[in-house]
Amino acid sequence: NWTTRNILEEQADRIREQIGDARVICGLSGGVDSAVAAALVQRAVGDQLTCVFVDHGLLREGEAEQVERDFVAATGVKLHVANEQKRFLEALAGVSDPETKRKIIGREFIRAFEEAERAIMREAEAEGEPIRFLVQGTLYPDVVESGGGEGAANIKSHHNVGGLPEDLQFELVEPLRTLFKDEVRAVGAQLGLPAEIVGRQPFPGPGLGIRIVGDVTEERLALLRKADAIARAELTAAGLDNEVWQMPVVLLADVRSVGVQGDGRTYGHPIVLRPVSSEDAMTADWSRLPYDLLARISNRITNEVDGVNRVVLDVTSKPPGTIEWE
Ligand code: XMP
Repeated sequence: NWTTRNILEEQADRIREQIGDARVICGLSGGVDSAVAAALVQRAVGDQLTCVFVDHGLLREGEAEQVERDFVAATGVKLHVANEQKRFLEALAGVSDPETKRKIIGREFIRAFEEAERAIMREAEAEGEPIRFLVQGTLYPDVVESGGGEGAANIKSHHNVGGLPEDLQFELVEPLRTLFKDEVRAVGAQLGLPAEIVGRQPFPGPGLGIRIVGDVTEERLALLRKADAIARAELTAAGLDNEVWQMPVVLLADVRSVGVQGDGRTYGHPIVLRPVSSEDAMTADWSRLPYDLLARISNRITNEVDGVNRVVLDVTSKPPGTIEWE
């Protein structure tokens, strides 16, 4: 439409003016803000932009492919992928305390990003064009309410790509600074970005690492990824994506309960469904999902995911519960 097209043209001019002939980098998280910010900059200055995707192995099913394949196909962006799954698993080994997990993930993320950045920098310098700019997907609400749009920074140590240390060597490019989330989604759609990215519900920077209650292992991640994919697919099939703000799916890896399947006794883990409705994530209510949808999700998860023999529903509002379990 007219307004978003206007935003696009205006932004492209402004970005070109700011960046000139210099090189610029942008971290992609798989989320909508960094994707739209990167696509806008790419549209304005093309190959002067290099995007960095640190794959920490804590994303949900299909999300790494959405960045590496679909986003690249839609934008033609130059992408540097850092495959750091092993590094994060090793750093998280044996750690079950939520704050410690968050700190480790945040720390390793910054280190991995900086390593990628240095590699790109060496290439750029060899070509005689140093990197001078860093793109950030800061939105208008983040600007007004400095401390972050999510507002929970003092309760949990938040981590996201926007939270990279502001390396003083870079000047920031923030093409979304005047926009609200729904406007960002409209711009993303206008730019032809994949629907999965444009419509993605909020997902925490530390990813599935804080949706496993207990320590994080490769097997547990695989199990949770499968359960989460089923729950999301069923929610979408029921046409309820827009009613639900977010539906974390949590693995209680430290809990086991007795069950029966076929004619055998099982001793498996529970999966928690945490669908919530909210305006801004500061407060939330649990979503009254239809019973038949809950039944379908439960049947499919217990049948299709080995090691899970119970599905439970979280019926706590925020406060007193937070949206995430960790
Ligand atoms: P809580 O669990 O505090 O979450 O009620 C509020 C909202 O913030 C998201 N969340 C995060 N987002 N980095 C993020 O970018 C984080 O570290 C983080 N922790 C929680 C959560 O998914 C919810 O939308």
